[in-house]
Amino acid sequence: MKYGNIDFNNKTILITGGAGFIGSNLAFYFQKNFPDAKVIVFDKFRNEETFSNGNLKSLGHFKNLLGFKGIVISGDITKKEDIEKLEEYNIDYIFHKAAISDTTVSDQKIMIDTNVNAFKDLCDLAVRKNASMIYASFAATYGNSNIFKIGYERPNNVYGFSKLMMDNLAKEYYDKIRIVGLRYFNVYGKREYFKGKTASMVLQFGLQLLKGERARLFEGSDKIKRDFVYIEDIIQANIKACNSQKNGVYNVGTGIARSFQEIVDLLKKEFSIKREDVYIPNPYKKQYQYFTEADIEDTKKYLDYNPRFNLENGIKTYVPEIIRIYEEEIK
Ligand SMILES: NC(=O)c1ccc[n+]([C@@H]2O[C@H](COP(=O)([O-])OP(=O)(O)OC[C@H]3O[C@@H](n4cnc5c(N)ncnc54)[C@H](O)[C@@H]3O)[C@@H](O)[C@H]2O)c1
Repeated sequence: MKYGNIDFNNKTILITGGAGFIGSNLAFYFQKNFPDAKVIVFDKFRNEETFSNGNLKSLGHFKNLLGFKGIVISGDITKKEDIEKLEEYNIDYIFHKAAISDTTVSDQKIMIDTNVNAFKDLCDLAVRKNASMIYASFAATYGNSNIFKIGYERPNNVYGFSKLMMDNLAKEYYDKIRIVGLRYFNVYGKREYFKGKTASMVLQFGLQLLKGERARLFEGSDKIKRDFVYIEDIIQANIKACNSQKNGVYNVGTGIARSFQEIVDLLKKEFSIKREDVYIPNPYKKQYQYFTEADIEDTKKYLDYNPRFNLENGIKTYVPEIIRIYEEEIK
């Protein structure tokens, strides 16, 4: 589906983190709907380097871009010489998605270097090019807060803190360029498989069930609720942000919290599986968000955003892809 009324044909669109989950979905959105747009994907891509938690340092994967016809640049946003590779292009829009997207990373320096300091260099690039900047913020900025409205942030991990610092930094550019932060809640959908352990629980539970295993949930999962948002609605928000009436940060979710238990129940219904679940203690107790629910009033008002997918039809739409992943990547 096409969103908004901007014609992106003949425009140059830079997507940082474009080999990752959200960035690659955006790249294909433009390729499909605006064949004359020049789309540049800039991503660090994965290598063997891992954080102390054992997870890979960057998750970009070429398979997310199979069929992509645009330009691919391998580069690190924290390296000024890599950012310089972008100077030769007349960029109209920057969708900044490159980040350390792993909530369990505790290395504070690399998190701030990547998520905050590098963002400043990209904002300066946007000013030089007079480009619009649409960047990814995150619901983890709310942390321990129980009010999910801009201004009520209480991050409880360095990832959430880094995203809040991006939002603060963005304010310095409000009077220079169009700059919109999108505060995503829990995103799920196509092209997230290569995030591994950091992929959404919709995919992880789906694969556990297809493998014939019991779904592994944290104890009390019927009461742990999040705002789960389907990738299509994230794309909608990004496109509509290009027409935003006001610079600022906007929540992107469904506006309704649902439990992890409901995800498993819906998946079991879709797969016609009747199997007991397993409940395990939550190892992240101290830095865990037990409830999130996006207040999307301003997003509706200033971005004309209207979520099209609730958990039921989001999961229903995603299920054939979960089965494909199981068949082609796992079986
Ligand atoms: N998926 C979610 O539920 C969710 C929720 C809230 C916010 N976000 C944000 O959305 C954005 C995209 O997330 P995603 O889920 O697609 O994650 P992802 O890890 O799939 O994508 C991030 C991409 O950035 C790249 N990258 C990492 N460090 C880089 C660096 N130094 N230089 C260049 N590229 C680098 C990675 O290789 C990867 O391809 C991130 O900013 C993330 O914080 C995601």
